[in-house]
Amino acid sequence: MAGKSSKKWAGKWALVTGASAGIGLALAEELAAGGVHLVLTARRIDRLQKMAADLSAKHRVEVEAFAADLVRPEAPAEILGFTTRKGIEVELLVNNAGFGAFGYIHEIPESRMLEMIQVNCSAVVQLTRLYVPAMVERRHGDVLIVASIAGFQAVPFNSVYAATKAFDLIFAEGIAEELREFGVRVCALCPGSTTTEFQEVAQQPDRVFRSAETAEKVASVGLAGLAQGKSCVISGTKNRLMLEGERLAPRRFIAKMAAKMMRPTES
Ligand SMILES: NC(=O)c1ccc[n+]([C@@H]2O[C@H](COP(=O)([O-])OP(=O)(O)OC[C@H]3O[C@@H](n4cnc5c(N)ncnc54)[C@H](OP(=O)(O)O)[C@@H]3O)[C@@H](O)[C@H]2O)c1
Repeated sequence: MAGKSSKKWAGKWALVTGASAGIGLALAEELAAGGVHLVLTARRIDRLQKMAADLSAKHRVEVEAFAADLVRPEAPAEILGFTTRKGIEVELLVNNAGFGAFGYIHEIPESRMLEMIQVNCSAVVQLTRLYVPAMVERRHGDVLIVASIAGFQAVPFNSVYAATKAFDLIFAEGIAEELREFGVRVCALCPGSTTTEFQEVAQQPDRVFRSAETAEKVASVGLAGLAQGKSCVISGTKNRLMLEGERLAPRRFIAKMAAKMMRPTES
């Protein structure tokens, strides 16, 4: 049920990156519905400000909006500076912002790939490193990291993206064990295809998104998994079964199958 897990953080503050669209927006809505105060960040401040007004009016929670471009390595420290100035203690950090780029490795601009690594990986490490010390100190806090089912295998024509999501997944599962003894919980949320702006941003073909889940469903699964203390949660039964089946197959075969599905077509 939407909003049920989010009540765990009622009256506390959550920071959501990539809150202006898709899964981040759905996470913010579910958290607000559960009575959680929010810091929303992304580049499109107009969207964040509208969300802040709507969510605070509808759910009587405090909502702050802060514009930050996570391509800039300084952005995570600026976000921390903002919450510190406001006297906000972040109980739940949601590292959600991210994007993909579809195509052949030799055709995607190098700058786009390096920006992807910065937003999808470096910023996740930076924000986690900035917010976790206070959580360790007070012996409680939670971190949700939005990875992907793409992080479990090679995904040709999405190779850099899949590698960034493998990074997110392995990073989350590692620190989940490191931080457990300090009362800090970490969970990797692994969605499959989800109906958001992702496809348009990545310029990815429609066929990959035929059986996409809704962002609301994915957000709900992520928050429930984190609330239950899981270090990894996969959204969607079909996605879980697919990954389970793939574990038995040779890795090269899986990559070949993925290439067949993803290969760019004419027109
Ligand atoms: N949709 C899927 O099929 C799918 C599947 C698995 C995993 N995921 C993961 O889910 C997460 C959310 O993606 P989504 O599907 O919700 O896509 P989306 O609708 O395109 O939303 C992406 C969010 O990230 C923000 N963002 C992108 N670049 C940014 C930057 N340079 N600085 C700050 N914020 C930035 C965007 O905000 P601004 O543009 O306003 O900055 C937006 O709020 C990503 O980590 C993605 O890898 C998505």
